[in-house]
Amino acid sequence: MCGIVGYIGHENATDIILDGLRRLEYRGYDSAGLAVLNGSGVQVHRAEGKLLNLEKEVFRAAPKGEIGIGHTRWATHGGPTERNAHPHKVGQVLVIHNGIIENYDKLRKKVAKDTSRVFESDTDTEVIAHLMDHYLQQGRTAFEAFKKTLKDLEGSYAIAVLHEEDPDHLYLARCGSPLVLGVGESSHHLASDIPALLPYTREVIFIEDGDYGILSTDKVELYGEDDKAVTRPVKHISWDQSMAEKGGYRHFMLKEIFEQPEAVSQTLTGRLGKAHKEVILEGMEHLMPAKGFPFEKVYIVACGTSYHAGLVGQYLMEGMARIPVVIDNASEFRYRNPIIDKKTLVIAISQSGETADTLAAIQQAKKQGAKILSICNVIDSSIPRASDETIYTQAGPEIGVASTKAFVTQLTVLTLLALEWAGRTGQLKKADLEKAAGDLKRLPQKIKQVLDLNDEIKELAKRYTEVRSFLYFARGLHYPIALEGALKLKEISYIHAEGYSAGEMKHGPIALIDKGMPVLVLAPKEDATYEKVIGNIEEVKARGAEVIAVASRGDKAISERVEHVLYVPKAPLFLQPILEVIPLQMLAYHIADHKGTDVDQPRNLAKSVTVE
Ligand code: F6R
Repeated sequence: MCGIVGYIGHENATDIILDGLRRLEYRGYDSAGLAVLNGSGVQVHRAEGKLLNLEKEVFRAAPKGEIGIGHTRWATHGGPTERNAHPHKVGQVLVIHNGIIENYDKLRKKVAKDTSRVFESDTDTEVIAHLMDHYLQQGRTAFEAFKKTLKDLEGSYAIAVLHEEDPDHLYLARCGSPLVLGVGESSHHLASDIPALLPYTREVIFIEDGDYGILSTDKVELYGEDDKAVTRPVKHISWDQSMAEKGGYRHFMLKEIFEQPEAVSQTLTGRLGKAHKEVILEGMEHLMPAKGFPFEKVYIVACGTSYHAGLVGQYLMEGMARIPVVIDNASEFRYRNPIIDKKTLVIAISQSGETADTLAAIQQAKKQGAKILSICNVIDSSIPRASDETIYTQAGPEIGVASTKAFVTQLTVLTLLALEWAGRTGQLKKADLEKAAGDLKRLPQKIKQVLDLNDEIKELAKRYTEVRSFLYFARGLHYPIALEGALKLKEISYIHAEGYSAGEMKHGPIALIDKGMPVLVLAPKEDATYEKVIGNIEEVKARGAEVIAVASRGDKAISERVEHVLYVPKAPLFLQPILEVIPLQMLAYHIADHKGTDVDQPRNLAKSVTVE
């Protein structure tokens, strides 16, 4: 996720900005830049790759000034190149931005029509600078032009802006992306996150969504959504640097679990239409005509957690769009001599975009004539580059080795695909699609409600730190979530855990059950197999199992049958996997944390598996 830093005061802005960017490195980025302003003009430096490259540029011609902005960019629109790095300068306006401007294409056309403008980057951000310049040219003051620009923007953003001829003011705005303000002595700092502020001040103001304003050395002017002046409280931060990087959480994994409402919301941004009544997937036109579904089958390839997302995708695509879907571990696919040809669409799912087996599977599939659609979280990584088209999840960088927010955003994209295709195959009518889009729009809110289970799960987890084994079972669409829950637990707590389809229990695994064996069961009331799952619960209980059920809110009856119930909000069936996996992530996390394992970097595992 991009990092923003801004400074106005009486010290050397370049040093403060570079230091702030270094302290935001943990957020992940692939290019960086800064702009520093003084009475005689602005100096801008940008560089691809690590901050070291930017530092080399800066040291060659160290910019002097007491006001500046800096940015580390996690590419979303346009590759990780120098020309796409921020700040973007148009006329006298310099902009850095974190988030996604949903209507950037429309805005680009708007400014390009009025004037003869040249866009120098592929980013959604550059349009902000063009718009503000456009309004300046109409005779507005810098602040008026800034305000008018904000009114045009749809999507999410944290923005910092400089005006070349105004070294006394720094402009800021926030809508859906993080932005905090540090209050120093005769200085103000801006940042995406607290670690960048800590060496300079511990007094911070959390800018709220819809706020915008102007900073000078000794004054903060903030305005709310209704353009009225607002005052936000100054808070004292006592965290140390490492706690601050994790947003006050003990581990990145927990932070990332809590980032899931935002990650899903970002992944949906621009994909539900303006009125949130349709599904729009950019790039689909490169794979298929406007109507119909031209492939005979879909073949999903992925590894680990991404494979589990693929299993849910298979249920959704077959169930909703009635398109045949085959799925395989990428490591098996490549040696299977799979039956695919140009009538097959291969979907490769990968958080990192670098997994060697998945990449090899793509190459194999291409040789056999298939088209490749990838679902990936890292722009321009190897897998998107090898694919015909990519749909990016917008989870932001995931630092904990155990995948959490990347998984739920993969599920979100697969759900969007299944819905879009169900429209194409005529399995869902316009009204059904409108309803589903509305349900998706409300999903981040439901995820927030599931996160409220955290304290309850933390307490519950204490019971299981010493167990040797854990079983997870479920049916249908929920079965891959049982697999994922078991994978999370074994990865980070080193407790042996297995996921099974509930119907398979009596074909072998039930032999494992004896007194006190923990069994987690996904038992959503709305599912057609609910009664059968209850039957499976009775079977394991009769053999002494201790059962935790993940159930639908309001299902009181289930609490009489099991030792513990974790209730998740009611939701349409196709969204339940996303809600159900969250308590399982939290259970794995807290068991591991109570045990004292290295949660973020479990033994023997790597974040990106680039070898076979
Ligand atoms: C588990 C996990 C791994 C990855 C797998 C594939 O928490 O993260 O199982 O899912 O290594 O990685 P990607 O998605 O990067 O291809």
